[in-house]
Amino acid sequence: MTRPRADLDVSSVLLDPAARPGDDPLRWAELFGDDRPVVVEIGSGKGLFLANAAAKRPGLGFFGIEIARKYARLAAERAVKAGLTNVRLWPGDAGHLMARRVVAASLREVHVYFPDPWWKKRHKKRRVFNETLVGSIARALEPEGELHVATDVEEYHGVIRELMAVDIRFVEIDVPPLGEPESDHDYLTNFERKYRIEGRPVHRSSYRRVAETLIA
Ligand SMILES: C[S@@+](CC[C@H](N)C(=O)[O-])C[C@H]1O[C@@H](n2cnc3c(N)ncnc32)[C@H](O)[C@@H]1O
Repeated sequence: MTRPRADLDVSSVLLDPAARPGDDPLRWAELFGDDRPVVVEIGSGKGLFLANAAAKRPGLGFFGIEIARKYARLAAERAVKAGLTNVRLWPGDAGHLMARRVVAASLREVHVYFPDPWWKKRHKKRRVFNETLVGSIARALEPEGELHVATDVEEYHGVIRELMAVDIRFVEIDVPPLGEPESDHDYLTNFERKYRIEGRPVHRSSYRRVAETLIA
């Protein structure tokens, strides 16, 4: 298990929710220093997706929301070590942030990869991908903005697809090809690497936010 490195200064990447209390809207221009388009990842874990995507697309701002403070710190360390200036990490609950603090139509993309499945029936209500989150994502995405989802859990994938199918604000789009990984950098996330090495199937779906004017 990777340990956080206390000596590394991550203050430019890891945000402090205590410095931004309450439910004030998050101002992306203030957080990223300019008005670049912003991509959110929900449940960033140790930040492999954020680091790879931010390096490939330097013109975008990548904002990871990770409830486990230790993982948020590790993801921030990864971004700092890679010299990335377009990554920010919010240690906190994505459900709350997306519902209350993300400005409407302010995101280019949302990514949700391998959300915790909460297997037990009585725990399923803890799943982060639920009807409320779909509503928050629909509100937060700009017209033509995209949502990308992946999970190894077929049943959870089915639930996600059903939630998305009944929401007329989204249309399903082709999933970007993953390709065969040649190195660790070719995996989308840490969990994808783990599961693909184990030979588990990965279920993926992508959606586009329909512009309001096109919704009948
Ligand atoms: C199974 S891990 C996947 C991590 C990463 N996306 C990957 O694929 O490697 C799920 C992550 O979501 C985080 N998480 C769970 N509930 C969350 C919530 N409500 N808000 C933000 N992060 C959450 C967990 O702490 C965990 O790091």
